Amino acid sequence: MDYQQFIQEQTSAIRQEVGGGLAINALSGGVDSSVVTVLAHRALGAQLKTIFVDNALMREGEPQRVVQAFASLGIPVELIDARRAFLDALKGLTDPEQKRQAITDTFYKEVLAGAVKRSGAKFLLHGTILTDIEETVAGIKRQHNILVQLGINTEEAYGYKVIEPLQTLRKDGVREVARCLGLPGLIVRRIPFPGPALAARVVGEVTEAKLATVRAATAIVEEELAGSGAFQYFAALLNDCATGIRDGKREFGQIIVVRCIDSADAREAAVRELPWETLHRLTRRLTTLPGVNRCLYDLTPKPPATVEYV
Ligand code: XMP
Repeated sequence: MDYQQFIQEQTSAIRQEVGGGLAINALSGGVDSSVVTVLAHRALGAQLKTIFVDNALMREGEPQRVVQAFASLGIPVELIDARRAFLDALKGLTDPEQKRQAITDTFYKEVLAGAVKRSGAKFLLHGTILTDIEETVAGIKRQHNILVQLGINTEEAYGYKVIEPLQTLRKDGVREVARCLGLPGLIVRRIPFPGPALAARVVGEVTEAKLATVRAATAIVEEELAGSGAFQYFAALLNDCATGIRDGKREFGQIIVVRCIDSADAREAAVRELPWETLHRLTRRLTTLPGVNRCLYDLTPKPPATVEYV
């Protein structure tokens, strides 16, 4: 594929669709939404409003880091603090699809709808990619950003039209476009991070305490595996406990799973054979987290497992 041509075509398609109106997009800092932000900014300039929603489910320092990175690209991003709304919506939920649904509803019906209304935008630019559409339509997993393909009329339901410039690309194609757009290497190579964010890595009810644990674990895993070159790596927190020993006393502690996979586009994934030394170091560091006394390495490819836990 000629990615420069793709950029030109999509930029003029966005311009044509939006006309003299206003558009809005939500940036997560991942490569998909980053590419959409830059494409749409090129096409629309001041007619585009970009927001970053802090949903309480992001990684350490992520909201500020993303806003700063785009400010240095000359793209202003408004940070919206919606932490309470998401935490309240997730309260008491344990079923994975209900959790995803609660995040989708809070994001689209509450936070984004409010932001769109305040801005007067009639268009929403979305970073949906082909894999998201295929897996949702196949009923494997409801990706939080799929609306139109599930028959949802966004103009009726939410008051805006959705534009999805990346819907013919997979992750590898999106990275090529990011490179052609001159996005910083840190964004181009950024490992995938799911829309439901850390909630996709907390099995069972999502609480602030569990988020704090998985957030700290994620920081350790990302630091240790940054140089691995793997497609994706992260920590997940199980909903079970196991007996252990801390300071000579019995502790019924939490269990962290480390996952590290190789993949081209996340449709299939193979487990990376990490050196034992790395696994031991991860275990040592992860079990220093309060309440965590067990660390497992996930050896399951996709399929039969999915990449995320929820
Ligand atoms: P799964 O868990 O479905 O993940 O095997 C495949 C890839 O997609 C990411 N992922 C998501 N990305 N919204 C997204 O934008 C989502 O709801 C979502 N769920 C999973 C996951 O991190 C992996 O790279």
